[in-house]
Amino acid sequence: MAASSSHVMAIVFLAALLPASSPSPSPPPSSSSPAPPLQYSQTWTLFKIQQMLNHPPMLSHWRRTTDFCGGGGTSAPSAAVVCYGDTVTQLHIAGERGSPPLPMNFSIGALVLALSRLPDLKVLTLSGLGMWGPLPDKIGRLESLEIVNVSGNYLYGGVPAGIAGLASLQTLVLDDNLLAGEIPSWIGDMPSLAVLSLRNNSLSGAVPSSLSRMASLRSLVLASNNLSGNLPDLGMLENLQVLDVAGNALGPAFPAIGRKVVTVVLSRNRFAGGLPADELASLYLLERLDLSWNRFVGPFMPALLSLPAIRYLNVAGNRFTGVLSDKVACGENLRFVDLSSNLLTGSEPACLRPEPEKKPATVVLVNANCLDIAGDGDTSSQQHPSPFCQNQALAVGITHGKTVKLGALGIPPYRTFSLVELEAATDNFENSLLLGQDSFGEMYRGRLGNGTLVAIRSLKVKRNQTSLNFSRHIETISRLRHRNLVSALGHCFEYDLDDSTVTQLYLVFEYVQNGNLRSRISQGTEGRKLTWSQRISAAIGVANGIQFLHGGMMPGLYGNNLKINNVLLDQNHVAKISSYNIPILGEAMKSEGGAGSKHQAESPMLSDKTDIFDFGVILLEIVSGKPITSLYEVEIMKELLLWAVADEDLVRRRSFADQEVSKGCSDESLRTIMQICLRCLAKEAMQRPSIEDVLWNLQFAAQVQDDWEGDNHSNEGSLVSSSSRVTKSSRFQNEQMTRSGREKEGEVSSARGSVWLQAATEDGNFETACNTGRRQAEDERY
Ligand SMILES: *[C@@H]1O[C@H](CO)[C@@H](O)[C@H](O)[C@H]1NC(C)=O
Ligand SMILES: *[C@@H]1O[C@H](CO)[C@@H](O)[C@H](O)[C@H]1NC(C)=O
Ligand SMILES: *[C@@H]1O[C@H](CO)[C@@H](O)[C@H](O)[C@H]1NC(C)=O
Ligand SMILES: *[C@@H]1O[C@H](CO)[C@@H](O)[C@H](O)[C@H]1NC(C)=O
Ligand SMILES: *[C@@H]1O[C@H](CO)[C@@H](O)[C@H](O)[C@H]1NC(C)=O
Ligand SMILES: *[C@@H]1O[C@H](CO)[C@@H](O)[C@H](O)[C@H]1NC(C)=O
Ligand SMILES: *[C@@H]1O[C@H](CO)[C@@H](O)[C@H](O)[C@H]1NC(C)=O
Ligand SMILES: *[C@@H]1O[C@H](CO)[C@@H](O)[C@H](O)[C@H]1NC(C)=O
Repeated sequence: MAASSSHVMAIVFLAALLPASSPSPSPPPSSSSPAPPLQYSQTWTLFKIQQMLNHPPMLSHWRRTTDFCGGGGTSAPSAAVVCYGDTVTQLHIAGERGSPPLPMNFSIGALVLALSRLPDLKVLTLSGLGMWGPLPDKIGRLESLEIVNVSGNYLYGGVPAGIAGLASLQTLVLDDNLLAGEIPSWIGDMPSLAVLSLRNNSLSGAVPSSLSRMASLRSLVLASNNLSGNLPDLGMLENLQVLDVAGNALGPAFPAIGRKVVTVVLSRNRFAGGLPADELASLYLLERLDLSWNRFVGPFMPALLSLPAIRYLNVAGNRFTGVLSDKVACGENLRFVDLSSNLLTGSEPACLRPEPEKKPATVVLVNANCLDIAGDGDTSSQQHPSPFCQNQALAVGITHGKTVKLGALGIPPYRTFSLVELEAATDNFENSLLLGQDSFGEMYRGRLGNGTLVAIRSLKVKRNQTSLNFSRHIETISRLRHRNLVSALGHCFEYDLDDSTVTQLYLVFEYVQNGNLRSRISQGTEGRKLTWSQRISAAIGVANGIQFLHGGMMPGLYGNNLKINNVLLDQNHVAKISSYNIPILGEAMKSEGGAGSKHQAESPMLSDKTDIFDFGVILLEIVSGKPITSLYEVEIMKELLLWAVADEDLVRRRSFADQEVSKGCSDESLRTIMQICLRCLAKEAMQRPSIEDVLWNLQFAAQVQDDWEGDNHSNEGSLVSSSSRVTKSSRFQNEQMTRSGREKEGEVSSARGSVWLQAATEDGNFETACNTGRRQAEDERY
């Protein structure tokens, strides 16, 4: 069955390629009986055509005496006339490629009119003759045409609608012209069209979906145009053997194609994503597959090398990943393989290595991957070191299909995002979603496909860096995940398509919706202000965040320029630090001497205390309920605070505190907070407390407040409050025990690194593990 249908196809192909044979529907002329002379009017028409084409050299043998139907019109395939009886059925005139345009008195309209005087013309080649002008609609008058090849001329305008009337047309070749506009959708309705070749024109727009109805289509060549969008579904085209759309802007979806394709050329387009493994593996007739220079990602399919019929395989210039091994098998017919410029690791398959006795030899190109090449150093020098491929693979978002499970933080694991995803999330970085911008780039609000809100920070980067240059920073950023930080969810690199360097880096953070701490304290509307215990928990949250930045990261992040309006609150009033010293700022970024690293020069011990001072300022605002915007105000308030703390009776303290909370707070709790606040604001950095000390005092204040509230309420017999009191009291005791336990353990400081590494692999364990390390460091310091 398959054999007989491909036999028929072969005949039609021959008809197109070898002008001397006739198209399949008409019987060949008998060679035994002498041919009758060509009708006079047709002879006259041929001479007219010769003149219109400005007497091209290959027709120089056409004289008055020429017996066209007796073979006299034919000298070579490039100049041939074929008759059936006394009428011309085929006319082939093929000039040189790149012939100059015919003179001004040439008229394509007149030529088509002349051709219509050959009523039985079925096959017409007029290629490379310098014909110019818009192909006229009148071409529809050449009703018998089955095969037309007018490639290599200067035809412009659109594909004329007249062609739609050529009901017998099987082959239409308009290659290498200047045709523009869109591919007309009526082409899909031409009943017999089997070969459509529009290569190297200026056609634009989408490929019409009507093509998916062309049951007789065998060869579709649209290469080298300006077509865009996804290809229509060609999966139903049982007869499709050749699909060549190279050199357009098509994609991103891999086209649906029938199982009997022999040639598939998608190179130099915008196809992206992974390969449809099952579909490709079933293409048992596929001989030529060219996917080169697209944006494909994901695992390379070694099975492509061993497709039963494969001869030519080119996947160069994509981002295919995967580990190749010796064991990969190759098909018997394989003659050309190009795997270069991908992200492949492992060893070059044995079946691709040169074998002296093998004839004909297979051409194999594998450079610019991360493969181990057996043999000489020259070849292996063209390979990247294998971390390059791993990093790049990570950067383009190739994960191994893990199901996303929420970490202990209630946020998804850190991952890479694709640019497409971020564009979709931000409506193509729509202006109305811009949250802010600075010299490094912009911050956008976005919504991922499943509705998750995110904040997307775009960062312009210095030129000529690959994603490898960022790997250390990405590693750090991927660990910026803590309950009290606006946590990093992932990143995305944007690449220069020409040299694969990074042009832009996007960092994706969680989006915290409930406003900032200041708006709930000093700028809050009445009734929305936080209670005293809520304020203490917010302060504890911020301190926890600082502790994580200093001790939970390696190296710690200091000098975070903490500000109360950069502390955000989530739905549960959990405080999250939104602006911290992202390590990447300043270093790899475009702006020179960037901000965000101004404390870098100080010793870690002192810059660690800068954050403590900033925290003191936040605490001052939390207590006083007054917005503090200058160092000058800090100085004044500090003086007042000094007096308030020292006062024996409560009056000064109460009047210093925000009226909103002063009645609802225990004096001991208030005084504890005020004291730690003062210590944080000490002029001498060395005199400021450690973050652990700060946390300890805050937790103590929280506990005292709880007890006080509990007492007050239990006087009124409130069951709920007294039970919550028990819970909170025991919480505090537990923490006390943990703390003293840790101090006794006295771990050696070399253990810190390993604790940290372990912690980094699991979201949930950060705090405990990191605190341990941090305590150790503090103990050594003091
Ligand atoms: C069209 O004609 C040119 C010139 O003769 C030839 O090279 C080309 O193969 C033909 N195209 C088809 C599809 O037959
Ligand atoms: C065009 O002009 C040339 C002379 O410049 C002449 O030889 C030729 O016959 C003319 N062609 C037509 C179709 O009139
Ligand atoms: C495309 O067609 C033009 C003529 O229109 C020709 O000069 C050029 O060589 C062709 N390009 C290719 C790649 O075939
Ligand atoms: C290709 O098409 C796009 C629009 O789809 C247009 O902006 C661009 O100029 C075209 N390029 C060429 C070379 O015609
Ligand atoms: C939403 O999508 C993001 C990105 O695909 C994923 O990480 C996250 O887990 C999803 N969230 C939910 C609630 O499904
Ligand atoms: C990038 O590197 C290339 C060579 O690797 C160099 O020619 C070019 O000037 C560099 N560009 C910039 C902006 O540094
Ligand atoms: C990027 O990394 C390469 C290779 O490690 C190095 O040669 C280059 O200097 C780095 N570029 C920058 C701007 O740091
Ligand atoms: C504590 O109780 C007293 C009187 O019993 C009341 O005036 C005060 O408002 C209560 N405080 C709180 C925080 O409930």
